[in-house]
Amino acid sequence: MCGIVAYVGDERAYPILINGLRRLEYRGYDSAGVALIHDGELHLHKCQGKVSDLENHVNGAPMLGTIGIGHTRWATHGPPNDVNAHPHLSTSGDIALIHNGIIENYAPIKEELKHRGHVFRSDTDTEVLVHLIDDIQRTEKVDLAEAVRLALNSVVGAYAIVLLSRKEPDLLIAARKSSPLVIGIGDNGEHFLVSDATPIVEYTKNVVYLEDGEIAVIDRKRGLRIKNIKNQYKTPFIQELELHLEALEKGGYDHFMLKEIHEQPRSIRDSMRGRLNLAKGEVVLGGIKDYEQKFVNAKRVVVVACGTSWHAGLVGEYLFEDLARIPVEVEYASEFRYRNPIINEDDIVLAISQSGETADTMAAIELAKSRGATIIGICNVVGSSIARVTHGGSYTHAGPEIGVASTKAFTAQVTVLALMAMMIGQKKGTLTGSKFYRLLNELDAIPGKVEKVLTSEAHVKYIADIYKNATNALYLGRGFCFPVALEGALKLKEISYIHAEGYPAAEMKHGPIALIDEEMPVFVIATKGASYEKVVSNIQEVKARKGKIIAIVTEGDTVVKGLADHVIEIPDAPDCLVPLLASIPLQLISYHIAVMRGCNVDQPRNLAKSVTVE
Ligand code: F6R
Repeated sequence: MCGIVAYVGDERAYPILINGLRRLEYRGYDSAGVALIHDGELHLHKCQGKVSDLENHVNGAPMLGTIGIGHTRWATHGPPNDVNAHPHLSTSGDIALIHNGIIENYAPIKEELKHRGHVFRSDTDTEVLVHLIDDIQRTEKVDLAEAVRLALNSVVGAYAIVLLSRKEPDLLIAARKSSPLVIGIGDNGEHFLVSDATPIVEYTKNVVYLEDGEIAVIDRKRGLRIKNIKNQYKTPFIQELELHLEALEKGGYDHFMLKEIHEQPRSIRDSMRGRLNLAKGEVVLGGIKDYEQKFVNAKRVVVVACGTSWHAGLVGEYLFEDLARIPVEVEYASEFRYRNPIINEDDIVLAISQSGETADTMAAIELAKSRGATIIGICNVVGSSIARVTHGGSYTHAGPEIGVASTKAFTAQVTVLALMAMMIGQKKGTLTGSKFYRLLNELDAIPGKVEKVLTSEAHVKYIADIYKNATNALYLGRGFCFPVALEGALKLKEISYIHAEGYPAAEMKHGPIALIDEEMPVFVIATKGASYEKVVSNIQEVKARKGKIIAIVTEGDTVVKGLADHVIEIPDAPDCLVPLLASIPLQLISYHIAVMRGCNVDQPRNLAKSVTVE
């Protein structure tokens, strides 16, 4: 939520900032802005809208400078408009600051600063930071870095900030608490500060992840120094970035979302690589090796996650209960953290997050950790905050997911959950030899089957065209496919703005059936398996009320074909792995409906990829 990019180096500052903002735009696209220092002057350009609007806004201006900061906003305090866009300036206009996060105690600080003569121009919480730092620097007669440190001691909330000052044109100061910040170290004293590493991959592979409570002081001549809020310095730990430029480009697809849907044979394979060993008949998850016995003895596992990751967690519940016979509770991280949950030292908390930055998931982890639970992460972004605070975990290795609607991250999360459940089931003896080997082979075959599912895209597009003007839709599934129904509904609503609800198929008759008429498309996952006959009955119930059925069926099915208005076939697979196949036509249908409705699928309205605020 909100993207930050800052640079000190040579005269490429502006193009580096703009390209960086384009890469980070998925984090928020309500407004964009840059501030550059050139010839002793601070030049500020900002406006409502996207990075392309900012480029139009600056059109013609020289945009010179070797140091600058840039920001793309997802609005929290104050509507998306020009004045609320970042960077924000101190009253004198000497200091400019960008921020990702929320300052919770901004109101009393603002009142105090107003009394002291500071002029506020925006409705944002952020603006208090720049005035507060300016005020402290003047009254305490300290340097800028010290003023930042003192200011941060009196604010409550989450932040990643970067600031520069006209009076110190070789200096960038940054700090973080609960919002991510990565420092890139280039050649010849060049430094970058970014919300995630995607804007810097073409410039450097050397990065330092700033930790919570740390302040980075980057001086063109003295380089990078890191200290904490208690003023203790530490040696920066430089790591090598494992990210490639091609992964950040559309690669010939119209949208990132479509590219990411089509990447799934590869991303699922990558999630299994080096972990599923058919020859040896084993699953090895290095990142949780030390916790295997803890899982085997676990009385329960608690999953904390949000959105699509929560849906993956729900599939995880069914997998763990079925294969490893461990009771699982799946919690919305936002609810879990505020309701005094019962957690103890025997519990394993499984935190699932694509970005590894989701504020609610992070807070749920901190709560569970403080109560002694073992925290295992399933994250996609390497080096992300959640990946770093967990005791152990397994990365999903899906590669960067840039489309705001999550697709390949979901199937990668389910793949890792399946591997975990199988491994623990085998160790525990709840998954016996032949069933284990059969599942191992079935999981290994999934990427090939996903490729096959993707060949039905033209047919899915044909169905999308028929239902593109629907105003409501229902998604039904049972067992392992109930979470798939929830996920299908979420995909449709978030990118096409059609109201959609997912339900366990049998729940339909307890209320939602009242909604069904000849206008209502009902997407049903009706694959062969434990609940097949029951789902067929649910389809009959919808048909009896003239609802339109679009069914995902197992290849060769004739019964549902005879009942449904449309069927989309997927290859046969064991129930527990069907989510990896059935979710894909639902992703495609949402994508094509959204494109046909003229929606911006990669950047749906009001959303942002990485939800770093509560
Ligand atoms: C939906 C979507 C969101 C995220 C949710 C959690 O397509 O992307 O619902 O799944 O915001 O994000 P992560 O997984 O990054 O914690």
